[in-house]
Amino acid sequence: MSDEVVAYMTGERGKAAPASVEDVEEAVRTKNDTTNTNMNTNIESEATVPILDLEIQDIEGVGPTTAKKLKEAGIVSVMDLAVTSAEELSVDLNSSKESAAAFIISAQKLLRDSNLIQKEFVTADAALEKRRSMLRCSTGSRALDELLLGGIETQALTEFYGEFGSGKSQICHTLCATARQPIESGGMDSGVIYIDTEGTFRPERVEQIARARGLDHRHVLKSIAVCKVYNSSHLELIVKDLGKYVNDFNAKLVIIDGIISLHRAEFAGRGTLADRQQRLNGMLHKIIRLAEIFNIAVVITNQVLSSPDTFFGDPTKAAGGNLVAHSSTYRVYLRKSGENRVAKMMDSPYHPYSDTRFTINEKGADDIEEEGISKNSVGNKKGNKSTTTTD
Ligand SMILES: Nc1ncnc2c1ncn2[C@@H]1O[C@H](COP(=O)(O)OP(=O)(O)OP(=O)(O)O)[C@@H](O)[C@H]1O
Ligand SMILES: [Mg+2]
Repeated sequence: MSDEVVAYMTGERGKAAPASVEDVEEAVRTKNDTTNTNMNTNIESEATVPILDLEIQDIEGVGPTTAKKLKEAGIVSVMDLAVTSAEELSVDLNSSKESAAAFIISAQKLLRDSNLIQKEFVTADAALEKRRSMLRCSTGSRALDELLLGGIETQALTEFYGEFGSGKSQICHTLCATARQPIESGGMDSGVIYIDTEGTFRPERVEQIARARGLDHRHVLKSIAVCKVYNSSHLELIVKDLGKYVNDFNAKLVIIDGIISLHRAEFAGRGTLADRQQRLNGMLHKIIRLAEIFNIAVVITNQVLSSPDTFFGDPTKAAGGNLVAHSSTYRVYLRKSGENRVAKMMDSPYHPYSDTRFTINEKGADDIEEEGISKNSVGNKKGNKSTTTTD
């Protein structure tokens, strides 16, 4: 793992910006000129970067003064403005919420008019066509991919939740190895941003997974930008600037391992619950907008509350209450089952309620051998329906 990459996201960054605004602008300009150039990173960028020829001043109503203020607030591109919340922007610009919202709407309109994001209304058949061409990333286990109807989706927030040791972080590590693989092999040919809130990211484990799968481990490791997050404010700042990192690292997958653990630890008492939920809410909404506008897949993990009253309560209740549940597009519950793991699709706008079994081995998340499923599942997405168990 390159120290440079880690330092980029965790080091001295002033107001959460990875470098000065001018540096970022320069980097964005350079990227516009040469598709495959990355800014001060070792990440190999073979995937196509969306070329943004749009300048912030192309937005209706944004003059040089507003553009300057936006840049000072770290908003350097039309995309950045499109994913900002009106509350946040009104503070940054010292303006009313209404005028901040108007800027955001204008930015989104410009992106729509430039065909960079979907039109407000599209016919259902066009929407279906678009969904069929959507990138998906293999989890490493074909059974798990089938539960997800083809793997982790872009423009969506996929939540894995479960008790300790249920395999949440292992799935995240496996995704790090699969995402770099070519699209036809079940990957997304892209970099990965890994936000580690629990200090459990292990590059050695990714290396082991990549080697065991016969992948180029050096190439895989160079594609992962890791950020170890120390407190909830740090996490919120990283999420605020995530759009920039996604562009800089050419990432199509963002993993946040332990989305609420820091907030949960810091906002312990009942009295602080409303504050915590509000901050989490702002962060989750930003993440969803990023997934949609930047066309990226976001994977989050969440722990299950250990509740002594499981006779009466729901033992599969994730931390963060309804907030995280309502924000996630797809929710998958994981639990240990002897040597293996069971994954259940708990909530989805289109997946059936079903479950499947997988295992964790040197290849990371993998299929259970005795069930007659091919072990090396990366790129093997069209296999038979996996065994579905109900327990
Ligand atoms: N190299 C490996 N080979 C086989 N199994 C492994 C390997 N590394 C980890 N595991 C398995 O993965 C488990 C840990 O899973 P993981 O770290 O994904 O848990 P988690 O769901 O993220 O838990 P937590 O809530 O504590 O973060 C270990 O208990 C072990 O069973
Ligand atoms: Mg973990």
